[in-house]
This record gives sequence, structure tokens and C-alpha cells, in this order.
Amino acid sequence: MAETVLDLDLSNIQGIGPRKREKLIDGGIESVLDLAAALPGDVKEVLGGNREGASRMLLSARIFLEKSGLMDKEFMTADEVLERRRTLMRCTTGSEGFDDLLKGGIETQAITELFGEFGTGKSQICHTLAAMCQLPLEEGGLGGTCLFIDTENTFRPERLKEIAEARELDSSEILKRVVLCKVYNSSHLELVVRSLGKYIEQYGARLVVVDSVISLHRAEFIGRGTLAERQQRLNDMIHRLLRVGEIYNVAVVVTNQVLARPDLFFGDPTKPTGGHVIAHACTYRIYLKKAARDRVAVIVDSPCHPYSETRFRITEKGIEDV
Ligand code: GTP
Ligand code: MG
Repeated sequence: MAETVLDLDLSNIQGIGPRKREKLIDGGIESVLDLAAALPGDVKEVLGGNREGASRMLLSARIFLEKSGLMDKEFMTADEVLERRRTLMRCTTGSEGFDDLLKGGIETQAITELFGEFGTGKSQICHTLAAMCQLPLEEGGLGGTCLFIDTENTFRPERLKEIAEARELDSSEILKRVVLCKVYNSSHLELVVRSLGKYIEQYGARLVVVDSVISLHRAEFIGRGTLAERQQRLNDMIHRLLRVGEIYNVAVVVTNQVLARPDLFFGDPTKPTGGHVIAHACTYRIYLKKAARDRVAVIVDSPCHPYSETRFRITEKGIEDV
């Protein structure tokens, strides 16, 4: 993981001389970690040349990280995978029931998607996590800061302060360790996600929140003709998020809206937006719904969790058990 002291200068990679190194840095690819998290198209854009050359360079960066133990090997035995999973960390959500649903909390090296109708508590969970991730590991946190990417202008520092105080945490410290990034359009969001590695290092982040992940794309790409491009760009962005989560050992939490499905007469008439692109890239998907005064969270499509659900409540502590 990124905390090991290791020389991650680009010059460690074969084929990167001083000139290429400088160009890459100018293009925002500043370290071997950034390079490994990049896409071939990014490198091609910065250095020119062909795609194969760019792909080879990315592969070299990955191999470098594998050898340094910072990244998974392409092929691993199951016990190696198990060992690797021991390095992942879990962040408490502030609700025991919710933590149990997730077998201990929000995981690093993964994307957790919260989806549900308006008012189901997606942003409230994000605010709570922004405080909880700062707790030390032994108290269930991740011992790091939170990068909070707000696309809907719904982040409220006052609310974060209230949550911290209700939990008897030092609210002025908590507020200092949540770094807010307001984004205004889909291109801006994509740009921020491209540079995420740099910000994670700069601010010592262990949690990245994107609230919400596709609303901007949805609002800007209207009509059938634009759907393919929208999905392509979302796909690109969400895979970058996943790679960044893996390489920097951070937890990534994204929120998503639901589509009304008036054509369905039975069952739940809602499903998350973003289609397969989002569905396949997210490691854990949690469906939130209202239940009188409370909220219900259901884990769906998880690779390793049985179907289960939990009730929680939105209070001055953020979220907590009923
Ligand atoms: P959209 O972003 O509109 O899709 O909704 P969301 O799922 O993000 O909803 P959000 O997390 O904003 O939850 C809104 C609900 O949280 C409201 O219906 C309120 O019941 C509750 N809530 C919001 N702010 C506070 C607060 O400061 N204190 C308490 N106790 N509850 C709050
Ligand atoms: Mg919200």
C-alpha cells in the first residue's frame, strides 16, 4: 500500500527517460502509482506515440508495483489472495446493524454504491462516513481524511459538525480533515477523478465519497443519440475509481439515484441508474428505502454477502441503529 516508503519516481520505469518523465508529470501523471492507475489513452495523449507503447508502459508500472508488493499480481493463488485481503481495512458506518450488513463496514480497495430514492439517507450516510473514517483503526475508522466530491451541492459542514459533536469527537479537527471538492459538470468530475491519486496522497485520504456519481452525466447527456458516449465516459470514470481504490488502499463510496419504472406493477418499481456500467464496476451495492420513520438498507449483488437487510435511523449522530 501507499504508506510503505518506496521510491515511486517515474524514472524507475524502463523506457521513461528525463524528457518523457517531464512530459508525464506535466500531464498530471506524477508517480508510478499514477501511471499504474492511468489508462493507455491518457499516456498516449501526453506522450504521443502509439497505444501499444502506452500499454507497455502501464504494464511496466504495474509490474513494478507488484514486485514492490503494492499491487496484486496478475495470477495469484487463493492463499495469496486471502493474504492480500488482510491488508484491506473496514470503516464503521456509525451503525452496528449497517456494519454487520457489510461484514464490518465499508471496505477499502472497493467501490460501495448507495442507491435509493430522494431522502433515503444517501448523503446522510456520506456525511457520517466522512467523520467515522477519521477514527483510528482500533476504533473502527481508517485513520485518514475524507475527500468529499459533491456534485449536488448538498454537503453541509454544519451537519458534519453536529454529527461529530453528537459522537463526542473534536468537531473542529473533524472539519479540517474533510476535503470538499465541488464539481459543476461531468467533464470537471472526470478531470477530478483522473487526478484523484494526487489528491489522496496530498491530503492523506482513506475515504473518497462521490455524491452523486452520475447525476451530472445524466443531466448533460440527453437523448438516445448520446447514450453510448455517456456510458463510455461513465465506464471510464468508474473503472478509474476502482483502480484508485485498489492502488491507494482507500474506500470509495458513491451514491446513485434510482429510475422510476412505472411499467412495473409488481415488485419494487425502482432500479439504479447507470445500467450495467455502474452495476458491474461497483463491488458492493446497497439499496436504501424508507420505512416509516426509519430507513432500510439492503445489500444486493454482492460477491460475498448473503442477502440481508438492516434498519437504521437518521439522527443527530448521522446514522445509527434503531
Ligand atoms: P437525494 O440526494 O435527494 O437523492 O436524497 P438522499 O438519499 O441523499 O437523502 P439525504 O441523505 O439527504 O436524507 C434526507 C433525510 O435525512 C431527510 O428526509 C431527513 O429526514 C434526514 N435529515 C437530513 N438532514 C438532517 C439533519 O440535519 N438531522 C437529522 N436528524 N436528519 C436529517
Ligand atoms: Mg443526497
